[in-house]
Amino acid sequence: MGVLSGKTIVLGVSGGIAAYKSAELVRLLVNSGAIVRVMMTRNATEFITPLTLQTLSSNPVATDTFSLTQESEIGHIRLADSADAIVIAPATADVIAKAAVGIADDIVTTVLLATRAKVAFAPAMNVHMYEHPTVVENLAKLRSRGAVVIDPGEGALACGYEGKGRLADPAIIVAEIEKMLSAQDLAGENILITAGPTQEPIDTVRFVSNRSSGKMGFAIARAAWRRGAAVRIVAGPSALATPYGVERIDTVTAAGMLSQTSGNFPWSTALVMAAAVADFRPANPARGKIKKDARGLRLEMESIADEMPRLAAKKGARLLIGFAAETDDLEANARAKLKRKGLDLIVANDVTREGAGFEVDTNIVTLIGSDGRSQSYPQMSKDAVADLILDRIVAIRAAKPKATRPGKPSRLRAVR
Ligand code: CTP
Repeated sequence: MGVLSGKTIVLGVSGGIAAYKSAELVRLLVNSGAIVRVMMTRNATEFITPLTLQTLSSNPVATDTFSLTQESEIGHIRLADSADAIVIAPATADVIAKAAVGIADDIVTTVLLATRAKVAFAPAMNVHMYEHPTVVENLAKLRSRGAVVIDPGEGALACGYEGKGRLADPAIIVAEIEKMLSAQDLAGENILITAGPTQEPIDTVRFVSNRSSGKMGFAIARAAWRRGAAVRIVAGPSALATPYGVERIDTVTAAGMLSQTSGNFPWSTALVMAAAVADFRPANPARGKIKKDARGLRLEMESIADEMPRLAAKKGARLLIGFAAETDDLEANARAKLKRKGLDLIVANDVTREGAGFEVDTNIVTLIGSDGRSQSYPQMSKDAVADLILDRIVAIRAAKPKATRPGKPSRLRAVR
């Protein structure tokens, strides 16, 4: 169950050409499990019909404060009260100005004034309008009152101009609404995550790798951003899209991944190692392509040193979370890794079980803390597992506060 499941999102559509994109936004919100109620300004109905949005949302669309039928079906006060969040997308310069000064002359602006819910504005307009000092001031005013402004994208605008002013991608608007409705319990944390497989070259065209898809690490990155953390992901080769708000550093080999992890370690307040880093690599990768030979090919493999104990030695107040992908003796092996690597928490999973481990969208995990406490969970989505792991980070942090700012050496350590 996602964050939006069962939540009521009131979508206000105002009259700009980007109004046609609200259809896609409604669809994404409904797919996320939200109850969507749409309200439109009169001008918005010139760009997209209420019938389209009514059909997609399966709810009546409000266009008129003074319509007897609409008021009896769902009046403006009920609309304002029922909302868990209100998002105005697209938000024209006009609706932004009205909201900034409290004008309530249609259904959208009236609901905005009547609500206690969280509000987001996704502006869309010509770049000169967007940069006009009045619009800049009005957006700053709305922000200062707690509204979220979802920045428009840059590129070709419908009016023929190039620049900032395109309505943010509907998927980004959904991500921002999810964040708005999530506890920001990781605010102030800088979470560094490793994810995916590594590839170790045999020759110029071949490599040794593993079955990791990166799904678990990417799910943690997405959830950590939603919960307020700054997030960097050091990714091995993975086809997955970078989650919105997350900084991605692409790597290929274990050596590359480990050096990027060490390089970004000083920035982090927590390191989550969800990557399946190779333990061995071909000792002498060939230049060019090895030709086939009837006798086959013998590869000499060398071990790759585990950097984790070295990082653990200089962790200070940082939290270290590791994974243990096992095929035998799950708990005993995981406990040994937790100790050996100096971790605060280990996420153990038996990769031989169906619905767990590599490539799939679900996982079956046991979480073991450095206090020895272990808890096993049933099969659940990797998104749900991500939230469980982050809940543990919040709990460990509550018991063990950050002594220092990220990047600064610990005072206590310096004294010791
Ligand atoms: N790990 C790492 N760097 C390595 C090897 C592993 O950061 N060179 C991290 C993984 O990201 C994971 C944890 O260590 O969080 C455990 O990885 P795993 O492969 O299960 O354990 P190994 O230490 O390789 O032990 P073994 O091969 O004996 O299972």
